[in-house]
Amino acid sequence: MRVFITGGAGFIGSHLADALVARGDAVTILDNMSTGSQSNIAHLAGKIEIITGDIRDATTVEKAMASADLVLHMAAALGVNTILESPIESVSTNFTGSEVVLQAATKLNKRIIIASTSEVYGKNPKQPLNELDDRVVGTPQKIRWTYSDAKALEEAIAHALFLTKGLKVTTVRLFNTVGPRQTGRYGMVVPRFVQSALAGQPITIYGDGTQSRVFCHVDDAVKAILILAGDDKAIGEVYNIGGVGETTIKQLAEKIIERTKSTSAITYTAYDDAYPAGYEDMQRRVPDTTKIKNAIGWSPAHTLDSIIDDVATEFLGN
Ligand SMILES: NC(=O)c1ccc[n+]([C@@H]2O[C@H](COP(=O)([O-])OP(=O)(O)OC[C@H]3O[C@@H](n4cnc5c(N)ncnc54)[C@H](O)[C@@H]3O)[C@@H](O)[C@H]2O)c1
Repeated sequence: MRVFITGGAGFIGSHLADALVARGDAVTILDNMSTGSQSNIAHLAGKIEIITGDIRDATTVEKAMASADLVLHMAAALGVNTILESPIESVSTNFTGSEVVLQAATKLNKRIIIASTSEVYGKNPKQPLNELDDRVVGTPQKIRWTYSDAKALEEAIAHALFLTKGLKVTTVRLFNTVGPRQTGRYGMVVPRFVQSALAGQPITIYGDGTQSRVFCHVDDAVKAILILAGDDKAIGEVYNIGGVGETTIKQLAEKIIERTKSTSAITYTAYDDAYPAGYEDMQRRVPDTTKIKNAIGWSPAHTLDSIIDDVATEFLGN
């Protein structure tokens, strides 16, 4: 099989490339290296085709996609810091770029999986969240919601192309996905906490730490994506992909200190001091994964302990 991955030098994209190469597929990636990195794919040199370019360049996208049997659209601008610091560029990548990829897949009649996000649910207080739940988002002037909005429009375009042009698309809504190669640079909490713990530096919680999340190991997410990609019954469908075990951010910090045998202290910073204006957090974000479990029998294998251990092992260079 020939697989084309947008954002293949990123965190999830590079793990997908690993899994595909391991099963003998030919992989081409397209990445502009904005949040991705050469080091994520250095071990794949000579084993995959690497194109440096932008998903908003239709000519490049169509050329790279032309010979693919499967397209995995992972390229996006993400991370709280990225969205708040470069809002226009981020919307452009997430909305315009995704439309280019989706139109190319329609024109070339390709099977495609698009990575959406639990952010589309916004701050809907109903938990756990299933695929039919409403979007509840704040005012557009709170810039953090533009990520949710752009991803929601991407999903809507994909669905419209499925209905009107028969696009063979499956949408996955990833909830907090973590594991080796994720960088803390753009605001992701697990790598940031683990790095602080390993360095014996204070672990800084933004807010009061009572906000909770559920974390999913990237290996589990990759398995789910690849099973869905091989299942025609998933065409036209939307699936949550997320872990099990709700954890407050304070509990996460404590667990990371315990697992890494760290001497770090926990400190707190108010959201207003941690982020530029335009940030707003949601208290809980719990996935209902009943739909994907019933459809393909998938459920995550990793626990939070094994996720933390894997992230720590990578930072320690083991
Ligand atoms: N990691 C998570 O917890 C999470 C949660 C929900 C959804 N997602 C989605 O999963 C996908 C992959 O995310 P990730 O965590 O691997 O992030 P990532 O930042 O590591 O990967 C995104 C990749 O896209 C590339 N990219 C950005 N703009 C581009 C452009 N204009 N043209 C070409 N390449 C571009 C980046 O360089 C990067 O390699 C994204 O669509 C993201 O929205 C991730």
